[in-house]
Amino acid sequence: MTASGADAKIRIAIVGSGPAGSYAAGHLLRHSDPDLHVDLFERLPTPWGLVRAGVAPDHPKIKSVTRLYERTAEHPRLRLFANVELGRDLTVADLRRHYHAIIYAVGTPTDRPLGIPGEELAGSYPATEFVGWYNGHPDFCDHDFDLSGERVIVIGAGNVALDVARMLVLTHGELAVTDIADHALEVLEHSGVREVLVVGRRGPEQAAFTNPEVLELGELADADVVVDPGELALADGIADPAADTTARRNVEILRGYAEREPAGRRRRVALRFLLSPVEIRGEGRVESVVFVRNVLEAAQDGTLRARATEERIEIPCSAVFRAIGYRGTPLAEVPFDERRGLIANEDGRVRRGEYVVGWAKRGPSGVIGTNKKDANETVERLLEDLAAGMLLEPEPIDDAGLEAFVRERRPGLVDYEGWVRIDRHEQGLGEPAGRPRVKLARLEELLAVHAGER
Ligand SMILES: Cc1cc2nc3c(=O)[nH]c(=O)nc-3n(C[C@H](O)[C@H](O)[C@H](O)COP(=O)(O)OP(=O)(O)OC[C@H]3O[C@@H](n4cnc5c(N)ncnc54)[C@H](O)[C@@H]3O)c2cc1C
Ligand SMILES: NC(=O)c1ccc[n+]([C@@H]2O[C@H](COP(=O)([O-])OP(=O)(O)OC[C@H]3O[C@@H](n4cnc5c(N)ncnc54)[C@H](OP(=O)(O)O)[C@@H]3O)[C@@H](O)[C@H]2O)c1
Repeated sequence: MTASGADAKIRIAIVGSGPAGSYAAGHLLRHSDPDLHVDLFERLPTPWGLVRAGVAPDHPKIKSVTRLYERTAEHPRLRLFANVELGRDLTVADLRRHYHAIIYAVGTPTDRPLGIPGEELAGSYPATEFVGWYNGHPDFCDHDFDLSGERVIVIGAGNVALDVARMLVLTHGELAVTDIADHALEVLEHSGVREVLVVGRRGPEQAAFTNPEVLELGELADADVVVDPGELALADGIADPAADTTARRNVEILRGYAEREPAGRRRRVALRFLLSPVEIRGEGRVESVVFVRNVLEAAQDGTLRARATEERIEIPCSAVFRAIGYRGTPLAEVPFDERRGLIANEDGRVRRGEYVVGWAKRGPSGVIGTNKKDANETVERLLEDLAAGMLLEPEPIDDAGLEAFVRERRPGLVDYEGWVRIDRHEQGLGEPAGRPRVKLARLEELLAVHAGER
């Protein structure tokens, strides 16, 4: 402890407790001297980012990665400051005043727009909101999704599109054993949806699906998967230099589906290709989507792009889910790359003392594990800068003083013990029904458990 009451600790603030923030914290604590301390800020009362609020409820094994994050969070040199939002409760200037470095791990929370007429009609929904809703993210728990119609269109040929499609066709029995938010379980139980079309603008070989997710479609309890062999054939004979093993295997699986006779299940998921939406139509709400038929052509860089033909197809439907990728939103005082929709950075360096990891650094692509290497690389840059004396020079303060400062800004701060209380409470609610947990989706409920009122 110094004479001023401050200590000689090196303090790092990580903003965002998703995979990227958690991996960055783990790497920092493993590869730094014992004077280095991490405060992990999270805007929600619950940590782990999209592992809790994105990964589909029927994929519980994937969520077990949080055990690793828990071990990091239990490290004696890490404090979790959840329910504290940078930009609402604290400013970047606050963090620069008290920390030697800041690592932004805030993800890319919003959706990419399609930019076509009718996108804003009632019944046209961004997948980001639907995903947040069924996963119990507090920002989306009051959203309404009208699932009364029989046919729904999902635009995009990525894994999020497949998650959305699966959630729309899983049976109540399949969903009731998961950690899906209760409000979503109830709405989906009464859904009128019978057919989900997942529509990609390029061919089957260019789809961004991964193999297990495509295979899973063939194993649904009460939904057939349907692929039109004629549509697959449209892309035949066009060699894609970018096609890897995953892409080739996807095509094999899709061909298998195209040869299958539908088993007459109650619902169906149809995978369509080479169609771009050009307009969403309807009187006051979605009634159809107009698509243009595409052909593939090689761009200058060799990748295969979709080129529109004159052929148009109008498909009636009652709702549209736009699953064409996520996008970052600017943080006040932090440089933002508008074109790419992420925090402007060079190899994870934003500017002196500020760094970025995960989707906010490289854009919204990659699975959970991808963020580990990415976070470790940024942390290496930070440690190089630390060794070179190139971090910030914060005002002296001690642990208690810093926590008091944050609590003054955000009296409802949820620390790690507080999160453990919420976690145990949710798991306890789930146990009698054989569910991993029953998620509390409302901030008031989460904070009441945190405060020991339930
Ligand atoms: C729908 C969906 C399903 C997915 N399913 C899988 C899957 O099954 N398997 C797989 O491997 N990968 C999956 N992924 C990919 C994986 O979730 C991402 O690679 C990963 O979550 C990105 O990590 P991140 O930490 O960069 O961002 P995020 O996980 O988004 O974490 C960002 C965190 O920052 C917090 N935050 C944001 N702004 C602030 C602020 N101002 N102050 C404080 N905190 C803030 C957020 O609340 C959030 O907790 C899925 C992605 C999506 C979208
Ligand atoms: N189970 C899992 O492992 C899992 C689950 C969910 C998400 N994730 C991961 O999370 C990341 C994000 O997934 P994502 O599905 O959001 O994104 P993604 O993988 O980038 O897929 C986006 C899809 O949208 C299409 N698209 C983009 N703009 C379009 C437009 N204007 N019109 C029509 N289609 C358009 C893209 O087509 P083009 O290719 O032609 O651009 C692509 O098919 C991915 O890395 C994914 O693997 C993993």
